[in-house]
Parts: sequence; structure tokens; C-alpha cells
Amino acid sequence: MKGILLTGDKPVIPEGVKQVPVYIMGKRYMIPETLTIQKAFEYAGYRWIRGCGCRGGICGACSTVYRIMGDHKLYFGLACQTVVKENMVLAQIPFYPYKRRLHDIENLEPTAETMAKIYPEIMKCVGCNTCTRACPMDIKVMDYINAAIRGDIERCARLSLDCILCGLCTSRCPAQITHYNVGMLARRLTGAKIFKRADHLKARVQEIQSGKYEKFMRELTEISEDELKRRYVEEREWEPLNSKEVNWKPQDERYL
Ligand code: SF4
Ligand code: SF4
Ligand code: FES
Repeated sequence: MKGILLTGDKPVIPEGVKQVPVYIMGKRYMIPETLTIQKAFEYAGYRWIRGCGCRGGICGACSTVYRIMGDHKLYFGLACQTVVKENMVLAQIPFYPYKRRLHDIENLEPTAETMAKIYPEIMKCVGCNTCTRACPMDIKVMDYINAAIRGDIERCARLSLDCILCGLCTSRCPAQITHYNVGMLARRLTGAKIFKRADHLKARVQEIQSGKYEKFMRELTEISEDELKRRYVEEREWEPLNSKEVNWKPQDERYL
């Protein structure tokens, strides 16, 4: 395990790979067909300042809309996950503006009325399912909005669990719904008002409040970068990758 370096953010171009035309900001570039959209931008000389985060399909920062020349359809994806195609015409959408709806979770009940009060636009859903088709995470977006309308808050929470807040659903919705916020409210309500409180979480919060980790955290923020790397790469007790040992624990249990 020691010394493994992950190269997920570096373009690895196989020898002799075919190059395909891709249109970025309206300009044609020849791009190796193995690259993701994100890497294609970099290969063409662009630098990501907005619209790029985890590079691993988790943060939702890299929403992409594209067409293939000659095809009338609009396609959606994450730039860090979608591999380029011949004659792809790209447009990046770094974020979606939305109006924040402030609420105090402690004073809310997990009901249809709550959802409709905070996000009244959900009642205007026309059932077109465009949101579901736009979702790069294959989430049943329309279904979770319908669950919110019916007051089935837990179903809304479960269906929206994989949402990465990319906003592509919102970009297409004729009812102007910010689906990801609706899902997030449902998940917060489910955690706060539907699920049983987890005893082990309570115990962990008490441990944190008692200052158990303070000395360790302070030390981590004070040591040099080299020492931090040494501890992370050389000294760290590596957890097993793809292991069936679900109950794996490090030998040093001081910080568990
Ligand atoms: S895109 Fe909007 S209106 Fe259409 S199904 Fe989804 S939530 Fe409803
Ligand atoms: S539900 Fe919407 S915001 Fe969430 S991942 Fe799917 S398209 Fe993106
Ligand atoms: S950069 Fe985070 S999902 Fe693509």
C-alpha cells in the first residue's frame, strides 16, 4: 500500500490514440479520444478556475451541456466523468443561482405542508420528467419531487441521496424548481425528525466536546507539510482497499 500515487487528475494518453474534433468555446480542437471533457479542456490549453472541484464525480461542480454536431439532442454530464466524443460541442455551466430559503429545522415537521411552504414551486411540477433525463447521477428526480409533494419525506430523502448538487435538473425544469434543495431539505427533515437518534453519534459528539481530539488536531495544524506527508504516506496504518474486512480497525485505536 505504501507509496501508491493516484494519477486521476493527470491525462494519461495511450500511444497512437485516435484524435477527434471537439469544439470548446466555439473553437475546434483535435483531442485524444480517451480524455474526459475536463482533461480535453486542459489538453487544449485551458485552465480550470471555476467549474472544477473533486475531479472524481462527487462535488457536482463540473456540469456540462453538449451537443453532437448534426444531432438535435441536448446531452448532459459531468466534465470529469464524461469522455469526449467526435464532433462534441461543449458548454460549461459552473453554478446555478438560486434564492436561499432559510429555515429552522427544529421548528419544522416532516410533512407535505412544510415542503410546499418552503418550496411552493414544487406544486407546479408538470410531470415532464426532463429533470430525471438531465441527471448525470441517474437519480429519479421527478419521483423524489413527487414524493415531496405527497409528504413522503423519507422516500424523497432516500431517492435524492446520491444528489451531488450539480444543478442540471434545475437548468431544465419548466416549473423553476431547485430540486437539489428540495432533496436536501427532505434529508435534513428525515435525519432530524424521522430517523431514530443514533446513540453512537451522541457518544462521539460528547467525546469531541470533551476535547479528546483537540491536542491531536492542533498538532496536525502546526507540523510542517513534509512531516504531514511523511505521516500520511509512510507512518499511516493504511486501511484495506476493496476489502471484505468490514470490521477492520487500525491497531492504534487512540483516535477512534
Ligand atoms: S423538470 Fe420540473 S416540471 Fe418536469 S418533472 Fe421535473 S420537476 Fe416536474
Ligand atoms: S438531482 Fe439534479 S442536482 Fe442532483 S445530481 Fe441529479 S441533476 Fe444534479
Ligand atoms: S469536478 Fe467534482 S464532480 Fe466533476
